[in-house]
Amino acid sequence: MAMNVAIDGPAGAGKSTIAKAIAKKMGYVYVDTGAMYRAMALYFLRSGIESNDEAKIAASVDDIVVSIKYEDGAQHVILNGEDVTGLIRTEEVGNMASATSVFAPVRTKLVALQQELAKTTDVIMDGRDIGTVVLPNANVKVFLTASVECRAKRRYDELVAKGESPDFDKIAKDIEERDYRDSHREISPLKQAEDAILVDSSNMTIDEVVDTIINLCEGK
Ligand code: DC
Repeated sequence: MAMNVAIDGPAGAGKSTIAKAIAKKMGYVYVDTGAMYRAMALYFLRSGIESNDEAKIAASVDDIVVSIKYEDGAQHVILNGEDVTGLIRTEEVGNMASATSVFAPVRTKLVALQQELAKTTDVIMDGRDIGTVVLPNANVKVFLTASVECRAKRRYDELVAKGESPDFDKIAKDIEERDYRDSHREISPLKQAEDAILVDSSNMTIDEVVDTIINLCEGK
C-alpha cells in the first residue's frame, strides 16, 4: 500500500512550501492539486469562457487533457501537451480556478487523475478536498491554516520581494473572498476532515510545521 498524506487548507496557508519540504525529506512525491485546477482555468481564460458559464465549461471539459510530469523532483503541469507550469501562478488564474472549480465536471476529471496518482505512489498531496474526498483513507490528514492577516502578510512580502508594490488591504480582501468561495461551494467545499489534525501555522516557523507533520507520518 502506498503512503498517502493529505494536506488541506485555505489559500496562502503555506501548504505547498510545507508539502514540498516534507516530500523531499521523506521521499514522497509532492502532488499540487491546485495547479491542476489552475491549468484548467488557464484553458477557460484562453478560450474566453466566463467563469460562471457552467454550460460552456461543462461542454469544454472533454477537450482538456491535464497531466503531470516530474523533472528533477519538481511537478510540471501539462495542458493539452503544453507545459503551462510557468503560466498558472497569476492572481487572474488563481481566481478563475477558484470560480471554475465549483463545477462538477471539472472536479470529477481532476479527482480521478489525483486518485490514480496516489494509488501506486507514496504521495503528499495538497488541496482543499484531499482528506475529505480525494483520499478519504489517507494515512495522515492535516488541515493547515493561518489567520487571514498572517496569510496576507506572507503574500504581501512575496510580492514585495518580486519588486512589486502590492496593496495589503486588497490582498487580505481577495484572500477572504477566496476562503468564502472555496468553503461555501456545494461540491467538495474546503473543510477539515473529521480525522484530520488541525495545524495553525500563524505563529510557527516552516521548520516547526514540517517537523510536526513528519512526526505524524513517522507515527504511522
Ligand atoms: O491552491 P491553489 O491556490 O493553487 O488553488 C487554486 C484554486 O483551485 C482554489 O482556490 C480552489 C481550487 N482547488 C480546489 O477546488 N480543490 C483542490 N483540491 C485544489 C484547488
